[in-house]
Order: sequence, then C-alpha cells, then structure tokens
Amino acid sequence: MIAFLTACKRGSVVLCLFLLSSGVPSLRARPAGAALAVIPQPAKVELRPGAFRFSPKTRIYLETGNRRARWVAEDLSKLLSGLMGRAVPVISAKPSAPERQAIVFSLKAPAALGPDGYRMAVSRGAIRISAPKAAGLFYALQTLRQMLPPAPGAPVKAPLRVQCVRIQDRPRFRWRGLMLDCSRTFLSMEYLRHSVDLMALYKLNVLHLHLTDDQGWRLAIRQYPKLTTVGAHYAERFGGAGGFYTQQQMRELIAYAKKRNITVVPEIEMPGHSGEVLAAYPELACPLPGENRTFEVTPFWQRPAHFSEPLCVCNDQVFEMYRNILSSVINLFPSEFIHVGGDEVPKQAWNESSLCQARMKAEGLKNADELQSHFMKRIEKVIAAKGRRMIGWDEILEGGLAPGAAVESWRGAKGGLAAAQLGHDVVMAPNPYTYFDFTYHSTPIEKVYSYDPAEGFTPAMAKHILGVEGCMWTHIAVTDKAIDYQIYPRLLALAEVGWSPERDRNWPGFDARMLRQFSRLRSLGVTYHDPRATGAEVGAWSESDLSGDAPRVFNWDATSLIGNAPEAQVQVRLESGNGPVYVRSFELLKDGKEAGEAVFAGPLNKRNDVEVSWLSPGARHPGCRYTLRVTLQGSMKGSSAGSVWIMKPPHSPAEAARP
Ligand code: ACM
Repeated sequence: MIAFLTACKRGSVVLCLFLLSSGVPSLRARPAGAALAVIPQPAKVELRPGAFRFSPKTRIYLETGNRRARWVAEDLSKLLSGLMGRAVPVISAKPSAPERQAIVFSLKAPAALGPDGYRMAVSRGAIRISAPKAAGLFYALQTLRQMLPPAPGAPVKAPLRVQCVRIQDRPRFRWRGLMLDCSRTFLSMEYLRHSVDLMALYKLNVLHLHLTDDQGWRLAIRQYPKLTTVGAHYAERFGGAGGFYTQQQMRELIAYAKKRNITVVPEIEMPGHSGEVLAAYPELACPLPGENRTFEVTPFWQRPAHFSEPLCVCNDQVFEMYRNILSSVINLFPSEFIHVGGDEVPKQAWNESSLCQARMKAEGLKNADELQSHFMKRIEKVIAAKGRRMIGWDEILEGGLAPGAAVESWRGAKGGLAAAQLGHDVVMAPNPYTYFDFTYHSTPIEKVYSYDPAEGFTPAMAKHILGVEGCMWTHIAVTDKAIDYQIYPRLLALAEVGWSPERDRNWPGFDARMLRQFSRLRSLGVTYHDPRATGAEVGAWSESDLSGDAPRVFNWDATSLIGNAPEAQVQVRLESGNGPVYVRSFELLKDGKEAGEAVFAGPLNKRNDVEVSWLSPGARHPGCRYTLRVTLQGSMKGSSAGSVWIMKPPHSPAEAARP
C-alpha cells in the first residue's frame, strides 16, 4: 500500500559519541554475529572465556540505597527465581570477599557513561553491574535478561549460566520511541502494558500515545465530558464500538512505564484529524453560510471524506478549550514534551469562512498556512508557560514555528533536516523506514535496520536529533495480534538504530541475533512476522472473478491445511494491482458449520500487499471437512487477482531451545 500510505499517513495508512574518559576502559568491539545475541547490540563487548554458573548460592547484592536500583535488583531476583525454581535473595550490602556467586549492583561508575549507560563484567565468580544512574542498571538488566533463556513459566531444566563478558554500553540517541495510535483502534490497558514490557526489553524509552483522532478521543477530560461520551465511540449506526482511558488508568500506565524507564508522551491532535471532537462539539467547526453542520465518529473505512473537517482555529472557543485540555494533560503527564499533532490539515473550510478571512486580515496573516502557524504558536506558549516543550508533526514548520518547539519528521527526512537547520530539535520518524503500518513488502525489516537518522545532517545539525521513533497507525491492523505482527520484529531493528553505534551496525549480524530472539518473543506472547515463514495456498481468484464492485463469495477446501496448532495465520495476498480488493468476510466452516472467523480491515491496494489475520480452528477433527469461505469485493477502478494462504508455524524446535 505504499503509494496510498505515503500519500497520507494514516490516512489512507544527540548524537552521543561514546566517551572514553580516563576512568572508562577501552574495549574491543565484538565481531558481528558472535555469541551474544543481545538486541540492541551494546556499544562495546569483549567476550571472555568461561561462564558464570548460577547455583543455590547465588545472591544479589545491592551496594546502594537507591529505590529504583532496588526495584531493578528485585526484578532480577524475580527473573532468576522463575528460571531456577528457587528464591534468589537480594542483600543490601557489599559481598564479603572473595566474591563467589555474587551479582552486584552499584551506582559507582564514571558519569561519562551518561544517564542511561552502564558497565557489566561477567566473570566465573561474579557479575558486577555499575552505572552512574539507576536507569543504567535497568538497561544492564535487560542485557542480562537477553543473555539468559526466555522465562518459559516453569524452571528451566538445563544448568543456568551466562557467558563471561565485559560490556560497556550507552545509547546513541536519547529518544528511542514507539508511537501507538490508540485512536483508530482503541488499545486495551493490557495491550499498552504488553507494549511497555517489550519496549523496555529492547531499551526503548518513549511511548508516544496518539490519543485523539477522527476515530475516537481516548482520554477523559473532566471539563469536556462529551469528548468521551460522544467522541470515544463510533456513532450508533456504526455499532458504537470504542473506549477511553480514565485519568486514573493513564496515571497507572505512566507509573508502570516510568518503572521501566519509559516516558509516556501524550499526543492531543489539533487542528486537523479532529472529527471526533466536532462530533461532540459541532460548534467548534467553522460556520459556513446556510449549513447546519453535524458530524459523527465513523470507522476509518466508512468516513465520508478522506480528511475530516478541521477545528475552526479562528474561533477563540477552540483556543480556550484546547488551553484547558492541555492544562489537564500537562497535570497528568510528567513528560517534557507534549505532542500536538498539527499534520494533514485540510484548510478549505478556513479559506471559505468569513470568520477566518476576518481573522487573517486582523492578524496580518497572508494565507491559511500562516493561520495554522499562528494558532500553533499560541498553543506553544500555553505549553511553554507550564515549563514543557511542544512537539508536532513536520507540518508545524510551515508558516513558522516557535523557537523551543520540536518537530517529528514523518514525510521522509526533509522536515527534520529543515527543522534542525533552523535550530529546532527533531525526532526522526520518516515513513518509508519507521511506519510499521506499512506492509513488510514495502518496509522489510532490513530497510528499517538500514536507516541512519543522522544521514544528511551536518555535525552541527545532528546535535538537534533527539532520536528516532517507530509509528504504528492502527487504521488497517485492528486487532492486538495484527498490530503486534506489524510492529515485531521491526521494532527490534529500530531499537538497534536508536541505541547502537552506527559504525558497528551490520545487517547479517543483526539478522542472526534477531532470529534468536523469536523464541523469547513467543514466550512473551508476541505475534511477530517471521520472514522465513512458509505456507500453502488455499485458493486464488483471477482478475475476471472480481470485475466491478459486486461482492463475490469463494469456498475453498482447506481440509488438508488445517493442522493441530490452536490457531492458524491466514494471509490474503494481492498479485496484481489494477484496483483495490476488500476482504469483506473470512470464515472457517467445519462440515459446513461455522468454526471461526478472521478479522481483516482495509483494502489491499497494490501488488504484493498482504493482509494477515488468525483463525482458531480449535482441535482438528479427523474426518471433518474444512472450508474457507471468503467474501471479496473488487472496485470499479479495476480488477486485481490474488490468493489466500495458510501459514505454517515458523519455528523449529532447535531454535526454540536456544536463548
Ligand atoms: C502522519 O503520519 N500524518 C503524522
């Protein structure tokens, strides 16, 4: 779907040099693909002979009274206790010499390691972890976690050990983010916690929540109840589905993330992508002569126009309301940055409205771009007055931007380059590399991995790169599994882009380490894309089967393809690209009776587009006949051919056994 997705996002879809100070020993970078299958690859690794073997005598020593350090030590204790089937105590003291079976956490380390840096020395007798700040200890724990086998829910039978090694590590960038669009699809608190856990494991530290958009307002704001009573749910005629987070739930998520070193950055989108706000408060649209305007919250594929009507920025009620909303948001979220969207604003209504024409004249604004910029600068002042910083998508640069504001570059890198040149800080999220809603065909894992956020920046401009962010818009993938599938393992590639030194990155080394993470992802309940997966074709349709836009039902025999696995991944693939094909329904029938259905959302637009979903056939009954019943709909634009596949579980037992 690349043309479609690049045309409109969702719509249609500090530099840190590694400091070698006198107190920090120089270590040789390890060769690619060596035994330490850790992602992101630590900055410096020196493998040593031998291993630290965990035993009943293993103890965790905490040489600091720091509360966050204690949390890290206790988390390690929990992990080891689960793996070993026995308690591994945490002792608040230095280990008595000689150190035997000691895992030692200390906050005595050179400040030059930075706030997230750490050192870890694994020898046969001890594991010593030190960092200047507790965040570094937390990251060391994630490294150690990945050197251990995945926790399978029961003690592991093999003796537990980790390779002797010396690691010195710190991130390349301070902003290593994931944007989750919880507006297009309302994401459960459970899914958000699952995402935080995975981000922490791969050392990401910013969870950007796209909390508001045309498909739903997701955060309760006491002063404006209709934002959630009306704006958080599809209109009745579309089934009313939706949801929102209470302020208490969000507080809990912020605390959960903070423990894992993750800052939650809220995005309150304005002044476009706000159809749900107009559904609740239609008076915030620009009045147009002779029109009594009403709006409703519609599912993405049912929306009446490609982009929704914007808020009427010429109406001071809009500014007042957003000032109050931001005040509530700033009270709730402790993050330095507050995201205000600002992208893809259709400005016709402003050009047609006499209110806006008068406003532009009064303020001396030449055009609608300057009108948006005028509004965003007022909003920036509200945020800055509370000691925070505004960030917005790269359109906020158009028409001028307040000096302290930061820019998230999504339409390629050019917005980031332009912003950095003007002295603004930037987060790089260029859609060809970092948009995980794009198909794996258009954005393979290797492409994500190949991205260098500093490419094209002069050293002076590069100082403005805060970091990098993966974006998961949820208008096409609408179930937890389908969303996971789009994100993983591309997020692992991006984690390494954000953390590891550019000079050491290489695809074959990463690829080998990534494959070794798959058993860990499975143990964590992650649905991921396995590039090695194979499958079998269940059925195919030709261009002539789908001429016009009448739905057509296909019944394909799947008896020999339904295995005993509790669920089967199904893929619908477009093999020619003359026009879009919609999957209207997808059912599995057992002896003619319904045995499960898969959820697909959105059309397949271009050749090689793949839609993925899952069926749960239950226990396979020998002798039963299984049929896939698929309803497809073509388009008057042209007919496309395609096929439906059932994928085999990708992993081999050998891979599952390796840490
Ligand atoms: C975007 O994808 N419109 C930020």
